Amino acid sequence: MNARADMRQQASAQRPDTPPRVFVPIDASALSLGADQVAQAIAVEAARRGDAITLVRNGSRGLFWLEPLVEVETPAGRLAYGPVQAKDVPGLFAAGFLTGGAHPRALGSIEALPYFAQQERLTFARVGLTDPLSLDDYRAHGGFAGLARALTLSAAEVVAEVTDSGLRGRGGAAFPTGIKWNTVANAAGDTKYVVCNADEGDSGTFSDRMLMEGDPYCLIEGMTIAALAVGANQGYIYLRSEYPHAFRALQAAIGRARAAGYLGPDVQGSGRAFELEVRLGAGAYICGEETAMLESLEGKRGVVRAKPPLPAIAGLFGKPTVINNVMSFASVPVILARGAAHYRDFGLGRSRGTLPFQLAGNLRRPGLVEKAFGVTLRELLYDYGGGSASGRPIRAVQVGGPLGAYVPESQFDVPLDYEAYVAIGAMVGHGGLVAFDDSADLAQLARYAMEFCAAESCGKCTPCRIGSTRGVEVLDRIIAGTERAKNLTVLESLCDTMLNGSLCALGGMTPYPVLSALRHFPEDFGVAADLDKKAAA
Ligand SMILES: Cc1cc2nc3c(=O)[nH]c(=O)nc-3n(C[C@H](O)[C@H](O)[C@H](O)COP(=O)(O)O)c2cc1C
Ligand code: SF4
Repeated sequence: MNARADMRQQASAQRPDTPPRVFVPIDASALSLGADQVAQAIAVEAARRGDAITLVRNGSRGLFWLEPLVEVETPAGRLAYGPVQAKDVPGLFAAGFLTGGAHPRALGSIEALPYFAQQERLTFARVGLTDPLSLDDYRAHGGFAGLARALTLSAAEVVAEVTDSGLRGRGGAAFPTGIKWNTVANAAGDTKYVVCNADEGDSGTFSDRMLMEGDPYCLIEGMTIAALAVGANQGYIYLRSEYPHAFRALQAAIGRARAAGYLGPDVQGSGRAFELEVRLGAGAYICGEETAMLESLEGKRGVVRAKPPLPAIAGLFGKPTVINNVMSFASVPVILARGAAHYRDFGLGRSRGTLPFQLAGNLRRPGLVEKAFGVTLRELLYDYGGGSASGRPIRAVQVGGPLGAYVPESQFDVPLDYEAYVAIGAMVGHGGLVAFDDSADLAQLARYAMEFCAAESCGKCTPCRIGSTRGVEVLDRIIAGTERAKNLTVLESLCDTMLNGSLCALGGMTPYPVLSALRHFPEDFGVAADLDKKAAA
């Protein structure tokens, strides 16, 4: 008998003093796969058998193909079973899963699986592990240590710590967070705001959602540290309305944090006030762009503002405003708790720290993988993602959301760091990866990029408003083979105008998916066939 089985046997012979904790995720991805029904079946079966248990609704561990993933705290450690359906529950009890009994769904310790063990979880360290709304659990796993340290430092020292960590904005533009905070801290005026961009509109992205659902105090702590650093008393989380579970988690967490003195008129007896509210968006992609988001927060239509002035100088209601993505704020507690050098030690070049990569699209093992910058697409797609779900070769990956380039197989070994990606005409963005196999038609995907831009354009500037509609028409002509050479020239010129003439990155970056598809997959546009014909003539 091996050591683990021996421990399990001992455990089953023991009468535990406290009922075992059984974890069933409350994360939206797990719920969509039946986690509520599983939780209910576990509660019913435990009651029927007279087994005392404590049911905890945790966040997701991020191994989506194993959801709903049930974990049990046993004397042999925390053991997992998945994917579990409600109909499996009586069998799990019969197998003695409360003490780690053998069962076809048994996975052992999640933390020992290579998918999990090889990650570098800094911001996601607690997600899936703890009860998202338990302040005790949060504190027991290092929560509020960053805030406690920040309260011993001057505002300038907090900003310096964030600057030294090398943290850059995780929302897409990768602007250095410390420099932004410094600008707001030094801006004139008594009223300043901290705004969290939780619009997470990019296709294939879900790290913000998972963090807010699975570890909401981490975001609250990061925003509170930001408020102390820049001198703000009021914060807002701008959350997409499509995230009702995150909304409920945040509302509950804010209420509990306030009651415990982590928010409110006197944060942890510091004499500093910080209040936090959640505002829901109404479903426009452009409201993720920071100035359109400010308009929306002010109750107006989400239209992009011209810059300057920067929001750091004149932002929400014209006041100096820190705007950061969820993951940027969520990185701050660990930076303060463990020090800038610890965080900076992860990554390479000017891309420091870790990024939660989101594996989506045609993959066998989709999920969340937090790794230091420098990991390659090939590692993420194959070592973690397990290759395509269809079993066909992966042909292209759209990295960084709908404005990101399509990366071909020949570039799968380029390290994922901001500068290396810019050098190949791509962007890391918010770390979303959407994989396509060799049945994908890249010309249709390029057309979709233009169509998306036309649908989501705020209409303020001509290159985007008109250009995207013309772009769809030109692509239709190219795909149909109508005066292809002439229309390809028009497309290149149109993309050049959009790239250089648009007011914001919606129009400005739509050429990335379009031109990358054309450059790397010309055969899908009929271009290779034209060249063959020319060569034969
Ligand atoms: C069209 C468009 C959509 C965007 N959507 C988001 C979004 O959903 N979430 C986000 O954090 N940033 C988004 N951004 C980037 C924001 O404008 C801004 O750079 C970011 O919120 C700043 O935070 P950071 O420095 O922490 O990244 C978007 C930008 C554009 C142009
Ligand atoms: S690029 Fe598009 S979304 Fe951005 S300001 Fe111009 S019209 Fe609006």
